[in-house]
Amino acid sequence: MIIEPRMRGFICLTAHPKGCEQSVKNQIEYVKSKGKIEGAKKVLVIGSSTGFGLASRITSAFGCDAATIGVFFEKPPQEGKTASPGWYNSAAFEQEATKAGLYAKSINGDAFSNEVKQQTLDLIKADLGKIDLVIYSLASPVRMHPETGVLHRSTLKPIGATFTNKTVDFHTGKVSQVTIEPANQEDIDNTVVVMGGEDWAMWMEALKKENLLADNAMTLAYSYIGPAVTEPVYRKGTIGRAKDHLEATAFSITDSLKEIGGKAYVSVNKALVTQASSAIPVIPLYISLLYKIMKAEGIHEGCIEQMQRLYSERLYNDSEIPLDDKGRIRIDDWEMRADVQEKIAKLWEESTTENLIELGDLEGYKQDFLNLFGFGFKEVDYLTDTNEMIGVPSI
Ligand code: NAI
Repeated sequence: MIIEPRMRGFICLTAHPKGCEQSVKNQIEYVKSKGKIEGAKKVLVIGSSTGFGLASRITSAFGCDAATIGVFFEKPPQEGKTASPGWYNSAAFEQEATKAGLYAKSINGDAFSNEVKQQTLDLIKADLGKIDLVIYSLASPVRMHPETGVLHRSTLKPIGATFTNKTVDFHTGKVSQVTIEPANQEDIDNTVVVMGGEDWAMWMEALKKENLLADNAMTLAYSYIGPAVTEPVYRKGTIGRAKDHLEATAFSITDSLKEIGGKAYVSVNKALVTQASSAIPVIPLYISLLYKIMKAEGIHEGCIEQMQRLYSERLYNDSEIPLDDKGRIRIDDWEMRADVQEKIAKLWEESTTENLIELGDLEGYKQDFLNLFGFGFKEVDYLTDTNEMIGVPSI
């Protein structure tokens, strides 16, 4: 079929298998160009099909020569209906990993469930023995709690007061005011259940119980801080409470892994266009200004550059992992540089529908958004008949 992008708000209903393959190949080439990293050799990535999780899997495999198991929740294709992009990304990843002689298997299902955890443990037992790095990179709007059966929904709301600020519809470039009513306690609790650290801890407990963690195993989850303008809706909002919980969980996991010398860390990453971040009001405007400034300064990074730098300069750098005063790894250091943030604060005040095209990098935002779904790659001929029925080899 001929596959074209079909946009609905902040999602795209179609994905292009060849474009997703190109995206994965580009990321692999980048990692290879940076040279080998003496790092983990057996890696489990939970949330491995898009964004930071995919970039972590690619860096593990093509930077560290690691065997990887990836867990994700994606839609396979049906005749005449494309898969979700993470499905095609994972198909391309496995294909490239196998070509390079690297073990790669994937599990598609709800990572919050006991069944998917058990399936993963069984696969590790059968194929890898013990894992030395666990990446936890889920971003989900809902979580069915495995013990209570309750379906929790996360929200993106401020806490304590109504929040009004600018935002942009990145399809049209229209800058407008958005007003978000504050969360109630239930919203906060639900968001913490979905995006906090409970499920991360459950995974680590399950792996430990079955003796599937190597001595000195490490685990990592991803967080975000960001600037003052997004604080009410992000770091001081419902999602921020969940991130506080996730960050606190790192310490309790480290405690529980004492006998094997295991360590849990949270890495604070840079704001980037992913399926998860496009859904958050205000963030797309911030990202379009951020991209403009970071590109002008020559310090712009995508998910793969962030993860390659995280592995090579933080995790596996022969010295102690540098941490901030709250015990977190910071790879958002360039985003948070004072000069970068000062420039954004100024542009934030000035930006309007009329001038955003110049002040911000709306084109860069749109390009990244299209790329998430496998569109907008110059190497791909989008007018050619394309087979949508691509399988993930190990599934
Ligand atoms: P993403 O939307 O690109 O990836 C989410 C991954 O989770 C996908 O692999 C998806 O299949 C998987 N997933 C979702 N629900 C699942 C379920 N129930 N079972 C199994 N897999 C499931 O998200 P992104 O942006 O890469 O986010 C990953 C982490 O990084 C999140 O914790 C996010 O808060 C954090 N982060 C994101 C930033 C950004 O700007 N995008 C910045 C800093 C941190």
